[in-house]
Amino acid sequence: MTQRVLTGITTTGTLHLGNYVGAIRPAIAASREAGVQSFYFMADYHALIKCDDPDRVARSRLEITATWIAAGLDPERTLIYRQSDLPEIPELTWLLTCVTAKGQMNRAHAYKAAVDANLAENEDADAGISMGLFSYPILMAADILIFNAHRVPVGKDQVQHIEMARDVAQRFNHLFCPPDAPLFVLPEAAVEPDMELLPGLDGRKMSKSYDNVVPLFVGGSKALKEAIARIVTDSKLPGEPKEPEGTALVQLFDAFAKPQERAAFRAELRAGLSWGEAKQRLFDQIEGQIGPMRAKYDELMAAPEKLEAILQQGAAKARALAGPLLAQARQAVGLRSFALPLNTGVSGKKEKAALPVFKQYREADGKFYFKLNAADGSLLLQSAGFDSGRDAGQWVSRLKIEGASVLGSAPVQKAADDASIAAALAAFGDAA
Ligand code: TRP
Repeated sequence: MTQRVLTGITTTGTLHLGNYVGAIRPAIAASREAGVQSFYFMADYHALIKCDDPDRVARSRLEITATWIAAGLDPERTLIYRQSDLPEIPELTWLLTCVTAKGQMNRAHAYKAAVDANLAENEDADAGISMGLFSYPILMAADILIFNAHRVPVGKDQVQHIEMARDVAQRFNHLFCPPDAPLFVLPEAAVEPDMELLPGLDGRKMSKSYDNVVPLFVGGSKALKEAIARIVTDSKLPGEPKEPEGTALVQLFDAFAKPQERAAFRAELRAGLSWGEAKQRLFDQIEGQIGPMRAKYDELMAAPEKLEAILQQGAAKARALAGPLLAQARQAVGLRSFALPLNTGVSGKKEKAALPVFKQYREADGKFYFKLNAADGSLLLQSAGFDSGRDAGQWVSRLKIEGASVLGSAPVQKAADDASIAAALAAFGDAA
């Protein structure tokens, strides 16, 4: 079966090396695999959440398109498009919004971080937070589910969003589709194992908000060199042995080097290579790989009408796939043609089946426990003992509301396979 691989980049600002290593490079590598159909898009609706400067959004989506193509994406082999050219995406977003628990969105990292920042400043918790920011993960779920993508290459910071997309998909399937004919595929995040978060110049994650980025193409080799010069190192002198492990400089080098080059670089630093020399090696290493792409990038930026034509074509191909899936989703939720008899959905409403149950109880040891049984009575989850019944009860409600996404942190033992447990937990969303 063809694997569908999909990834998007929010079109705010200019791309940096972290975007290249974390998203673009792995995605392009994946697009060249046999048996893969790949989807790349400019997440320009997502950009509106973070950016209120229209000219910057406009410029950024052009730059990012040029970047993907310059970095080796082949518009003939793959689908490349702008999110905002597909009206199917916001339409599906609404259908998904209606099956998403608000409580789950409250726990999205990006939203929580914004709330925490407000509280730290003694502001109202939701000050300056738009509904766009709050609902961001649902739009992202629609991006993925509209093509039933199997695999989503993302940075580690996006993994929670993919898990939310899975939950939303599962919930939609559970509510509206027969068990043997789910509409949505449950997507998987694909995180580059080696370099999950590329460090920036100061060793923290490379991010525009930390002002520690290395630009990818913009500013030419000069800007690359200047950024590398700003990488923070210790003050060891030339000739003094240096500890390579954990330094931002070496981690950046690793992201562009083969295993034997990595080992050689470490050995040189331990033998006293100066930081200045080391920065020159790093520059050569990166420039060797991105220099040729930058030339292509400059050429494309000078011919925006070519890029426009490529994206128009991409949107037409993408819509031909998205349309039929959206039509099925509309059918499933009951938005059907009046010309059809009333009970002909894709699914029809399922019989109300017996439901899984949580049982709470107290044992002879005085502790409080709960367990989750499947509809057929078989055991799915067994909790640890709690000192108070309230704690046990709180976990039961979290499991009911948030579903399988909290299993990792819940004090429970699994007594069945993950899929059965997730399906049982999804059933509680119905009552919520
Ligand atoms: N949220 C992602 C980011 O900021 C971009 C994105 C939007 C995305 N929709 C997506 C990534 C769908 C993968 C799949 O990096």
